[in-house]
Amino acid sequence: MSFCFLSPIFVQHLSAVYSVGVNYGTLGNNLPPPTQVAQFFKDKTTIDRINIFDVNPDILRAFSGTRIFVAVTVPNGEIPNLVNIKYARRWAGNNIKPFYPQNKINYILVGNEVLHWGPQNLIDNLVSAMKTLHIALIRYGIQGVNVTTAHSLGILESSQPLSLAKFRPGWDKGDLAPMLQFLHETKSPFMVNPYPYFGYSPEQANFALFKPNSGLHDKYTKQTYTNMFDLLIDVVHIYMKKMGYGDVEIAVGDSGWASAGKTFEPKC
Ligand SMILES: *[C@@H]1O[C@H](CO)[C@@H](O)[C@H](O)[C@H]1NC(C)=O
Repeated sequence: MSFCFLSPIFVQHLSAVYSVGVNYGTLGNNLPPPTQVAQFFKDKTTIDRINIFDVNPDILRAFSGTRIFVAVTVPNGEIPNLVNIKYARRWAGNNIKPFYPQNKINYILVGNEVLHWGPQNLIDNLVSAMKTLHIALIRYGIQGVNVTTAHSLGILESSQPLSLAKFRPGWDKGDLAPMLQFLHETKSPFMVNPYPYFGYSPEQANFALFKPNSGLHDKYTKQTYTNMFDLLIDVVHIYMKKMGYGDVEIAVGDSGWASAGKTFEPKC
């Protein structure tokens, strides 16, 4: 569970926050059972949305009937199967329908950072799987659930300044344009996982960590950015707009800062 991102990113901006989400990962030792996690979130926190990296029924049952929105993830390996409508219906019937509407499932993420990690047959089937799953949900009468997928910022080519970054050639027209078209049609957000951490350098520590700093003026966007997070999100938006999809919302999938990373890594 990455709680760490709550402190650097959100606490100082609390006045602007109306929603706090965490990723509830299950790779770890001595994890408390889902019922205990759900109870803790409900009683002791204002967390109102979680993201899980699968469709774990125990977690979904634990959050059933609570105020907490849940984003679930289709495992990457299911992507090629999901382009088949019969399979997609069965998948939705087994994994989503039993929890709808008692669980406030707001997003179904089709795979995780698929463009970044591949392999190619997942990349090639991604948009098609998203579309088919969307149709399967509608046939079940499951409404208002956004089908999207989370991208690492590896979708961007590195550039100097960052605001001139483009989506990687090949992915831009081949994968991201049809995906953005689908998201536009279904009013679903484009989801990214911005890690201010990866751009870290000691000189930019304050900028990366939301601490007071002199800001970064960008002569192309004519904006002064006061933190890396805003800059990263704006860079994505600038290029979405260039592709004609400036109206598609951006959602943040995960972000954070290692609380116990490698010894050379900065701590939050
Ligand atoms: C996605 O979510 C938005 C905002 O809640 C909603 O307006 C839209 O209808 C949803 N899309 C689908 C396909 O349910």
